[in-house]
Amino acid sequence: MDAAHAPVDQRPVSIDGLLALARPDMAGVDGLIRDRMQSSVPVIPALAEHLIGGSAKRLRPLLTLAAARLAGGQEDGCLKLAAAVEFIHTATLLHDDVVDSSELRRGKVAAHLIWGAPASVLVGDFLFARAFELMVEAGSLQALEILARASRVIAEGEVLQLTRAHDLDLAQETYLEIIGAKTAELFAAAAEAGAVSAGASAARCLALRTYGQNLGLAFQLVDDALDYSGASDTLGKNPGDDFREGKVTLPLLLTIARTGPAEKAFWERTLERHDQTEADFERARALVVETGSGAATLALARDYAEGAKRALGEFAGERVWRPALEDLVDFAVARQA
Ligand code: IPE
Ligand code: IPE
Ligand code: MG
Ligand code: MG
Repeated sequence: MDAAHAPVDQRPVSIDGLLALARPDMAGVDGLIRDRMQSSVPVIPALAEHLIGGSAKRLRPLLTLAAARLAGGQEDGCLKLAAAVEFIHTATLLHDDVVDSSELRRGKVAAHLIWGAPASVLVGDFLFARAFELMVEAGSLQALEILARASRVIAEGEVLQLTRAHDLDLAQETYLEIIGAKTAELFAAAAEAGAVSAGASAARCLALRTYGQNLGLAFQLVDDALDYSGASDTLGKNPGDDFREGKVTLPLLLTIARTGPAEKAFWERTLERHDQTEADFERARALVVETGSGAATLALARDYAEGAKRALGEFAGERVWRPALEDLVDFAVARQA
């Protein structure tokens, strides 16, 4: 829908306002990222540049900066935390693409297909280590604790997901536990660490953590829906990766339940026994749409999005960063990329 035909109470879905507010801080974060991805071992900056120079949205560092500024932080300590957050995220992507055998990331050939899986994993470790150096420099033991815990929880989420692939009986509760750990935890920690760096009250730190957690859940639900409905040129990664890997995400879970005995043999072959052709993904994609499972996934994402906005009630009356963070929630739900 174009802006002219949008209902009057519906603001256009754009984070341009947030990006404009955060521009000076983000320039500082970019500088830190560029500086700290360097190494005297040539393959490290080459591989890091390939990924970091791609079409990254940089939502997580944005979250840290916005949380710090919303909470009244005036200092620049949040810049180092924001750069650390993006390094943690980037490290997990390098590892994740090896684990998921993904071929496209940020609109480019995945790094492991160019430099190999071993180099990709090791440069991921380098970026993780850089993140920890930056967090120590930022000088907040509390922020360090939050982001160290998030790094551990992400790894747990990824391992839990790995052990539950090909499982047609995966409970929705377990799926939510997985996405809570692998994705929402970093959104939560990014926002909470920003608030902590600003010296915010415990209630405000918790509010921003809750905001990030709900936003992260919504973000991953949309991501999982886009894996069936999106296109590689906008997504910058290949739709169908989840199905091909036998990853049972919510759109698929719902579709399996809604198609019942009629498609049982199809799911057992393609997901359990992992015997698939490209045409099978097209069939799965059609079933996700026909059963309304993609739409139901987006509806749940909208519920979490509302939860994220409610958490900002702690900042009632703030008219600069709070509306910008509300826009970020709308963007996460409406996004096609
Ligand atoms: C990708 O995150 C990993 C997920 C949690 C789905 P983003 O979509 O934020 O990735 P970039 O950083 O913009 O590439
Ligand atoms: C996202 O994993 C979370 C992490 C990378 C830790 P996914 O595997 O679901 O995300 P994409 O689709 O590869 O970006
Ligand atoms: Mg992946
Ligand atoms: Mg993955």
